[in-house]
Amino acid sequence: MADSSRLVLGIESSCDETAVAVVAGGREVLSSVVHSQALQHADWGGVVPELAGRSHLREIRPTIERALHDSGATAGDLAAIAVTSRPGLLGSLLIGATAAKALAWAWELPLVPVHHIEAHIYAALMALPEWHFPYLTLVVSGGHTALYRTTSPLDHNLLGSTLDDAAGEALDKAAMMLDLAYPGGPAIEAEGRDGDAQRYAFKRPMLGPDSLDFSFSGMKTALLYKLKGPGGKRQDATLEEASDRTAMAASFEQAVMDTLVRKCLRASAVTGIPRLLIGGGVARNRRLRLMMERACARPGVVATFAPPDFCTDNAVMVAGLGWARLEAGEVADLGMDVQAR
Ligand code: KG4
Ligand code: ZN
Repeated sequence: MADSSRLVLGIESSCDETAVAVVAGGREVLSSVVHSQALQHADWGGVVPELAGRSHLREIRPTIERALHDSGATAGDLAAIAVTSRPGLLGSLLIGATAAKALAWAWELPLVPVHHIEAHIYAALMALPEWHFPYLTLVVSGGHTALYRTTSPLDHNLLGSTLDDAAGEALDKAAMMLDLAYPGGPAIEAEGRDGDAQRYAFKRPMLGPDSLDFSFSGMKTALLYKLKGPGGKRQDATLEEASDRTAMAASFEQAVMDTLVRKCLRASAVTGIPRLLIGGGVARNRRLRLMMERACARPGVVATFAPPDFCTDNAVMVAGLGWARLEAGEVADLGMDVQAR
């Protein structure tokens, strides 16, 4: 059993996953439970906030109980309760935060608020046996696509971010246009696995020679026009054969991932930082992992991805970062607020 004075119970409920984990010393995962609502939102092609809130309310208590049980720890073993306090859906955040406050009060433990994006970055840091700051960090998820200069687990300077859609959002919308399942990222990955990724041309939006920002909405429009003609006006989709859909999914996925890779290498050249961290739901993508690995070889950039299970929303990253914040004395009182942005 891990040193109990270092155990943090983390709670994540910012979007459509109810997740609870127990992590020792910000490193050792004792338990991780994730309840995904993906099936409940599938018919709508995206997260419905009202449904998400209700589901969190139903699941939060059993998820906490299971995570604690699986960890082999008891309440008396814990050093703190960490919880995602921002950003996210207000109603969803409130349920995790209220549960965390109740536990912190009842068990007389410090309450540690955690920023969801910083937690995604921490998930990538957890993949490294030791840290050599600074890192260049890409967070790429359904709600965010941004590059940071990371100088500690708690310090991240924004270098660039998306001007419109996040990469995951673009994949989710593209999947809908292609009649694929929700969430779209994994669906496009599965559909495009054996597809010809060169068959359909999509421009890589680089936004000028120096920009470290992203833009994916044009790519989405390009897909719509390829499917439904100029202006997107034709009713019937042009995908006549199954192989067309497979190639379209592969080509779109390739274009999104290639843009991410190019921006990371540009950011590395601009900042002179040769160490890259990548986290967030889209970091699960195997095409991205392969492309990044290949592209990094020549400039000698070392890319570290968060472990696949800790790319999509989870509470291990919350408990992990919670430990780092607890050590830095960054705790909150029971009046803690949640913030959508
Ligand atoms: O980090 P995450 O779970 O939630 C947010 O903070 O947004 O990311 C969810 C996003 C969704 O857009 C989903 O389609 C995408 O991550 N995603 C993937 C993969 N798995 C999840 N995108 C590409 N390939 C995947 N394997
Ligand atoms: Zn996330």
